[in-house]
Amino acid sequence: MGLIPYSKQSIGEEDLLAVERMMKDDFLTQGPQVSEFEKDLAGWFGVKQAVACSSGTAALHLAYSSLGIDENSIGIVPAVTFSATANALKYQGAKPIFCDVDPESGLIDLESVEEILNNLNPNQKRSKNLIVPVSLTGSVAPLKGCRILADKHEFCVVEDASHSPGAWREESDGNKIKSASGEWSDASTLSFHPVKHVCCGEGGAILTNSAEIRKHAVKLRSHGIQRPFGPEHETPWAYEQDELGWNYRLSDIHAALGRSQLKCLKNSLLKRREIAARYRELLGKKPFSSHFGLPNEEKGHAWHLFVLRFRKPGRRDQAHKFLKERGIMTQVHYVPLYRHPYFEREMGKIRLPGAEKFFEGCLSIPLFPNLTKGEQDAVVNEIARFIEKG
Ligand SMILES: Cc1ncc(COP(=O)(O)O)c(C=O)c1O
Repeated sequence: MGLIPYSKQSIGEEDLLAVERMMKDDFLTQGPQVSEFEKDLAGWFGVKQAVACSSGTAALHLAYSSLGIDENSIGIVPAVTFSATANALKYQGAKPIFCDVDPESGLIDLESVEEILNNLNPNQKRSKNLIVPVSLTGSVAPLKGCRILADKHEFCVVEDASHSPGAWREESDGNKIKSASGEWSDASTLSFHPVKHVCCGEGGAILTNSAEIRKHAVKLRSHGIQRPFGPEHETPWAYEQDELGWNYRLSDIHAALGRSQLKCLKNSLLKRREIAARYRELLGKKPFSSHFGLPNEEKGHAWHLFVLRFRKPGRRDQAHKFLKERGIMTQVHYVPLYRHPYFEREMGKIRLPGAEKFFEGCLSIPLFPNLTKGEQDAVVNEIARFIEKG
């Protein structure tokens, strides 16, 4: 058996044909595929608007900038996430504030958010500010709680849904909270990196119910330039730039691949859920349970990642090494952002208890739709050998 990666894209014949067709088209970029992809995305997620762009990072940056986040703003970001969630605030000159996370799920901790909000300088409310819940690993963040706190303190909410297309959570009152539904956030963002649910190679999107956010994001995606006049005007060619934007456009080639991949999303979610259920069954028994915890059972989990939580300090790193030597690749998602030299230089030394606890034990084991039963067994068997070895 070859190397087993922790994640990998699934590209089928239809995807290949879609890309091949596009390569023969007149428009490789700025053609009709992008807006068709946006319509498909809006339909799939049940939102009014979608804006496709060149990466998940670009989607975060466009969402923040379209909401008016600037150098006077703060953004409350969970300490356990990928750098992009906070970096995109820095691109706007805004200040990220890291809040703590639940030590078992890694999801944003509402008490920690509330504490930050209650201790804010009252002048801060004069600016546009943000809370950015991340639906980490494919488990829906407490979006409703974030929305309630945000409304109380006049903050906006952007959900980083890079890990969670198709995810939902049932609340204690029986209500379903859906990731990226536009119901609890001003905007949600997706990534189409190959390890994510929908692969474009590189790509991302904003999902929102706000026509205003879409209009602004579309302008900023292409340098801040817009065409003010329709085809009937005497200078229909006219265009103007009234603010600074970027080239964050998605090409039509990437959009064609995204459209084809989106058709398989339901099926690939099913496969991810099946593999996660099998892992839970095989790894949920003794002797494993005394060595590591498993992710909570959630029907609506989108299973971008399957994270073991080793109980004893140091065992996570030993397991990573042991498995790597046997061709099984695992990953750590994530080093708390405040531990990176870049943020530590700016903010000083920060250590948050929930984030530290999660980080110390977390190890993502292979999970992707085409992971075969044989490969799943190999992962489980090698973990068993690691435990036996002690
Ligand atoms: C939580 C999270 N946010 C944002 C991003 C950025 O996405 P991209 O790599 O498409 O820029 C990623 C990608 O890994 C991510 O995992």
